[in-house]
Amino acid sequence: WPDHRPDHRLAGRHVLVTAGPTHEPIDPVRYIANRSSGKQGYAIAAAAAAAGARVTLISGPVTLPTPVAVKRVDVETAAEMTAAVQSALPADVAILVAAVADWRVAERQDRKIKKDKSAAVAPLQLVENADILANLAKSDRRPRLLIGFAAETEDVDRNAAAKRLRKDVDWIVANDVSGDVMGGDDNAITLVTASGAEHWHAMPKHAVAAALIDRIADDLA
Ligand code: CTP
Ligand code: CA
Repeated sequence: WPDHRPDHRLAGRHVLVTAGPTHEPIDPVRYIANRSSGKQGYAIAAAAAAAGARVTLISGPVTLPTPVAVKRVDVETAAEMTAAVQSALPADVAILVAAVADWRVAERQDRKIKKDKSAAVAPLQLVENADILANLAKSDRRPRLLIGFAAETEDVDRNAAAKRLRKDVDWIVANDVSGDVMGGDDNAITLVTASGAEHWHAMPKHAVAAALIDRIADDLA
């Protein structure tokens, strides 16, 4: 019974989590997005709250209930997510799990694009979205522990280690998404830190979240 009591290793800490996809509108009915259920990010926010942290969860469009004792801020686009992260700072720990769309449509149309009006398919002009994680790493309000996620389809360790250095973050949690793992309840991750890559065996996303929060508490202690 006492073993099941949540401890409060993150009491007094502010933990910021981003989760879910972003939607970048093309017109009022269409958008581009990355695949993301939001389950892993929501599980991490829940685990941080269970460890006693004050948690701000900045969420793209998902169909998940808000975890207990978590402050949830709903956003749609990468630009809105950027602004919400800014407003939520400062934080002791930031875990950016969101699958942010890398591009947005240069000019979103106010009216629905009709397919019968154009003989040819109109090409979409895309512009790159700002990198929330990399910019947070460079900012003067950088959280003490900054953690990014990476979905990779090949060379997971190498790509994740390169991403960690390129974005100048403390840890990268990498996922091999070459198989059929999207949207499922289990996850097998590789944790890339300054000391190298650790391969965790597959476990439910809530167990990954609990173990990660434990590691975070160890690191802050
Ligand atoms: N990320 C972010 N803002 C973006 C893009 C990504 O904050 N505009 C964050 C994600 O939340 C994640 C990490 O950066 O924590 C890595 O995202 P990923 O898409 O793997 O990295 P990219 O630099 O976009 O590289 P890729 O070309 O592989 O998509
Ligand atoms: Ca990306």
